[in-house]
Amino acid sequence: MKRREFLAALAATALTPATGWAAPAGMRLKAEPVSVRLLPDGQGVTRMLGFNGSTPGPEIRARQGGRVAVAFENGIDSASAIHWHGIHIDNAMDGVPGLTQAAVKPGDAFDYVFDVSHSGTYWYHSHERSWEQVAKGLYGPLIVEERDPPRVDRDITVILDDWRLTRSGELHPNFGNRHDFSHDGRIGNFARALVSRETVRRGDRVRLRLINTATARIFPVRITGGAGKVVAHDGMPLAAPEPLGELVLAPAQRTDVILDVAGPVTFAMLTGRGAYELGKIAAEGANPAPVKTPIAPLPPHAAPKPDRERARRLTLAMQGGAMSRMGMTGMMRGGDFWAFNGRSGLPRAPWQRFERGETALITMRNDTAFPHGIHVHGHHFHELDENGAPGHYRDTTLVDPRRRRDVLCVFDNPGKWLIHCHTLAHQASGMKTWVEVV
Ligand code: C2O
Ligand code: CU
Repeated sequence: MKRREFLAALAATALTPATGWAAPAGMRLKAEPVSVRLLPDGQGVTRMLGFNGSTPGPEIRARQGGRVAVAFENGIDSASAIHWHGIHIDNAMDGVPGLTQAAVKPGDAFDYVFDVSHSGTYWYHSHERSWEQVAKGLYGPLIVEERDPPRVDRDITVILDDWRLTRSGELHPNFGNRHDFSHDGRIGNFARALVSRETVRRGDRVRLRLINTATARIFPVRITGGAGKVVAHDGMPLAAPEPLGELVLAPAQRTDVILDVAGPVTFAMLTGRGAYELGKIAAEGANPAPVKTPIAPLPPHAAPKPDRERARRLTLAMQGGAMSRMGMTGMMRGGDFWAFNGRSGLPRAPWQRFERGETALITMRNDTAFPHGIHVHGHHFHELDENGAPGHYRDTTLVDPRRRRDVLCVFDNPGKWLIHCHTLAHQASGMKTWVEVV
């Protein structure tokens, strides 16, 4: 069976995520092997990795202004570390082996303790051999609740992911192969939306927190089953909610939607061959007292004001990969396929050193034949449109092949921060660098 047919054949089946949603913000998080019923009954279980017996790992919930304390234990047979994606975190807690901490060896532990200044939808994932460990299941949602949350009847997390499975339902063992590394990463043959609730009522106002946890797949998603608005991207509230159209989530991106439910809520992936149902929330019964007020913006976050006039102007050119004009040889070290500005892998010295609070205007220029979702650790940045007007405030921005995007970032968080493509095979194969804020 070809991969595409396999994906289609499984379209109608239900995935049962292991248990473990909703955990307190002071907790133990143990990485360990898990078995998940990914395929329908009778088709066996899939051996993966998870936290506390489940993949996705438990949903960690904290309150804005509060503290997260996680005692991480490494119960898998390779080194690991946890990164808290999108959090403006204390650098020592960022979870990047080789830059902010030593990798946690099998059997060892590490305490992550950090304050969360911004509410919103975030996630955590392994940052060691992430192209393999995240693909095997080492990730989970991290939700920071507003001090003054919007009124909704249900708050639902929706994880978009895909897996590459063999016909017997095991994870395909071809991790780290050259084709994935030089092309678009480990694209799965089975994609799902994992929802934290199975039912809603007609008339409910629900908040949907979409998180793309895939290591490579960009999800174009259509949500049906009600009228709604987009209220946040990458945890950051939109000044004005936007109409709910087709959403595109690059790996690691999040989008919050508030939806007034009119019927079953479905999540479909739009493909060249039509819509493919990723998941569904059934509608049962009716809400006797639906919220009638218009969907309002989420409470705004205090964000540092960029100084455009004095911004440091930089170019971050994405290079390499298959089908590239420059070819894949010549500039790469150690068999890497990808580079930023002619340099693959983590340089010993930072790409840039910023004074705390300095603004950078970075042109992210994609000179390759593949899209890249570029993530800056510890910060958010403003995407600028062609006219230079600020758009969304994000931590990961998708740049299409042969296109460019300017972003404006205030580097106000001291420490050493990674910048990399969130197609994790690209990151592993050289597309990364780092900056230091002093
Ligand atoms: Cu979500 Cu460096 O990663
Ligand atoms: Cu990439």
